[in-house]
Amino acid sequence: MHVSVIGTGYVGATTCATLASMGHRVIGVDVDQQKVAMLNSGRLPFYEEGLEALMGSLITQGSLTFTTDLPKAVTESEILFLTVGTPSQSDGSADLSYIEEAVRQIGRHLDRYKVVVSKSTVPVGTGDRVRAILEAELAKRGVVIPFDVVSNPEFLREGKALHDALHPDRVVIGCESDKARAMMTELYQGVRTVMLYTSVRDAEMIKYASNAFLALKISFVNELARLCEKTGSSISKVARGMGLDSRIGPQFLRAGIGYGGSCFPKDVRALIHLGKQQGVPLQLLDAVTSINQTQAPWFLQKVETAIGPFSGKRIALLGLTFKPGTDDIREAPALAMIEMLQERGAEVSAFDPQGMEAVRQIHPQVKMATDAYGAIDGADAVLLVTEWPEFLDLDWSKVRKRMRGRWILDGRNALDGDKLRASGFAYACVGERR
Ligand code: UGA
Repeated sequence: MHVSVIGTGYVGATTCATLASMGHRVIGVDVDQQKVAMLNSGRLPFYEEGLEALMGSLITQGSLTFTTDLPKAVTESEILFLTVGTPSQSDGSADLSYIEEAVRQIGRHLDRYKVVVSKSTVPVGTGDRVRAILEAELAKRGVVIPFDVVSNPEFLREGKALHDALHPDRVVIGCESDKARAMMTELYQGVRTVMLYTSVRDAEMIKYASNAFLALKISFVNELARLCEKTGSSISKVARGMGLDSRIGPQFLRAGIGYGGSCFPKDVRALIHLGKQQGVPLQLLDAVTSINQTQAPWFLQKVETAIGPFSGKRIALLGLTFKPGTDDIREAPALAMIEMLQERGAEVSAFDPQGMEAVRQIHPQVKMATDAYGAIDGADAVLLVTEWPEFLDLDWSKVRKRMRGRWILDGRNALDGDKLRASGFAYACVGERR
């Protein structure tokens, strides 16, 4: 099939590569000329394991191209994916201006029946808005051209984008015509998974509900971790015991310093906003947000209790990105932690395999090191902020020699506490003694 993907961020670029690898001819569209040139030369503007290599080979084979020419892409495609950003506005609602602009442009150039698919995370009702904009544009042109609007949310995780897009747990297709359903089914023929057909509004809600529920699991376990510290229980054992119940499931029950990234915080806020708008206050999600916002400060309080007042102390952060395997620092707990540490007079040093450049733009005072040992040099305490695999098997005797103090505070419950204590460190993590 001939497909265009409008917007080449994480979701857009991954969608381009996965659809092209399934045998479709794909055009990726972006307004940013530099980005398009970069993508056409087979380079990605962000880090995502395996994606650049796959994209490069698809470009060479000729099944994937990138362009700024949206009219041409519209004319040449049967299916048009919308994968532009929907950032948070100050009231928590999703900013739909990029979607609306892309749809207006599609409407100006629509020449025959096409399916317009929203893959961006959009509030319930956006499908209707897309339809209305397209109809208005066609009316302005004085033409009648049939089209369908589909919602096909994306559930991929950064760092595992390719795997998730090629082997999804489910493909949700919100559509309201047999023709669109048949085309979407043909498009995903190569994917072996459950296809769930719903209304557009159901599909839009499924995306928000899924992200909000995963965020809820994390906040639940994080709040319980605070209680476990008081009761002498171990949150990871408790989470394991809970997760073995197939009705609960083991995933997203890892306690830590809170969730970050470009999705959970934004999507929970947007769902809360939608609830308010509709007169249905989502109290549970208010609590999810507030637990998440207080989790990093709670952890720092624990650090301060361990090492004493931060003023004049040197604190080393291992990891800055919101999770391993990405260079993304959006809403990363590290950012709030740096701010709090500096406010309280600590000197902060850090190392991250991918995220240092972006953090330097926001917090130029942080001393960025060239490796983990450099960050640790002279530190009173080392905080594990992102569980990059390379931080899990450091040469701990080297670490011990290079530190001024002896505290390792593990914000991700990823290190072996007993081993560290045996090597002369003081160790604490989240929600348990290990
Ligand atoms: C999330 C969802 O997992 C995807 O299904 C969804 O498609 C995506 O948002 C999106 O809407 O685009 P992502 O933000 O890439 O994916 O990252 P996750 O792996 O879900 O992690 C999110 C945050 O939760 C990270 O900060 C991570 O450290 C934290 N987390 C995750 C925990 O603290 N504990 C856990 O048990 C799991």
